[in-house]
Amino acid sequence: MAEARPRVWVSQPLFDDIVDRLQQYFEVVAATEVTAYTPEAIAAQLRDVDGAVVTLNERIGTAEIAGAPRLRAIANVGVGYSNLDIAALGDAGILATNTPDVLTGTTADLGFALLMAAARRITESERWLREGQWGQWSFSTMLGADVHGSTLGILGMGRIGQGIARRGHHGFGMRVLYHNRSRLPQPVERELGAQWVSFEDLLAQADHLVTVLPYSADTHHIIDAAALARMKSTATLVNIARGGIVDELALADALANGRLAAAGLDVYEGEPAVRPELLALRNVVLTPHIGSASLATRRAMVTLAVDNLIAALGHGPQAGRPSSPVNADAVAAAAMKKTAGCKR
Ligand code: GLV
Repeated sequence: MAEARPRVWVSQPLFDDIVDRLQQYFEVVAATEVTAYTPEAIAAQLRDVDGAVVTLNERIGTAEIAGAPRLRAIANVGVGYSNLDIAALGDAGILATNTPDVLTGTTADLGFALLMAAARRITESERWLREGQWGQWSFSTMLGADVHGSTLGILGMGRIGQGIARRGHHGFGMRVLYHNRSRLPQPVERELGAQWVSFEDLLAQADHLVTVLPYSADTHHIIDAAALARMKSTATLVNIARGGIVDELALADALANGRLAAAGLDVYEGEPAVRPELLALRNVVLTPHIGSASLATRRAMVTLAVDNLIAALGHGPQAGRPSSPVNADAVAAAAMKKTAGCKR
């Protein structure tokens, strides 16, 4: 009897022509509509599949994988993977992958767009104009903050942070300060015109602060009321990382009370819900998590996720070597433990 083909689940409609490549190796169950899953629905989908392609909408942890004995790989379409409980997946021997690099430039572009829109009050101006409030040109209408020649602060200096630094330094002549757990090698700092400073100095000196660090328990609300209080009242804050990095109520309070000039947010703590306190403000530019949303980049992300899943499940030209695993060490350790257990 022919061996059953492995099964994979694709959680959201992506690009059919790319996802169809999975059919060469697997039986594919793919969502045809954008779907909001309950944890139980995710568990049900994972129950008898060998692999899955998922997006940041799908939160997967111990409960979701408990009844999924065949599951061996999860390819996340996104560079951030705070939707996945990496420790739980690793312990269960499930390899997770993400999609770095292919979205770096696009996401850095969006970060810069938010910075400029917030600092120069672009969306606020447009709204005011559309409301018919533009009676006469006036010298003091919508005065904002300069971007060129100002001090750009970057919190988290991975690939996207470096992309923002590059834009700021080379394109806008900005002085670039950054804070990150590890310092960049000196030649990279030189190319980016970037200087490492303490978190406190970053907050105090930035005219525009962009947060681009991974979300974890350690970075939860790293920008809280105390951090905001250290920033200049003329400053702009941009968050393109994950909502939980910023205490949104503290931010709304600072923006409403003139303790921060403006903000640009692409990510939210309870997304897709956005706090009414933020929606009520004019000096915050709000976009619906579109950091990587150019057609070319979203196609590249899906291509990488599909390639990762094919490789992680032992097929294709990179069989066994997906290009961007995020928990390979934990999976290897779980396999060793299992082998040691069998020998006893
Ligand atoms: C999007 O937020 C991503 O992490 O790719």
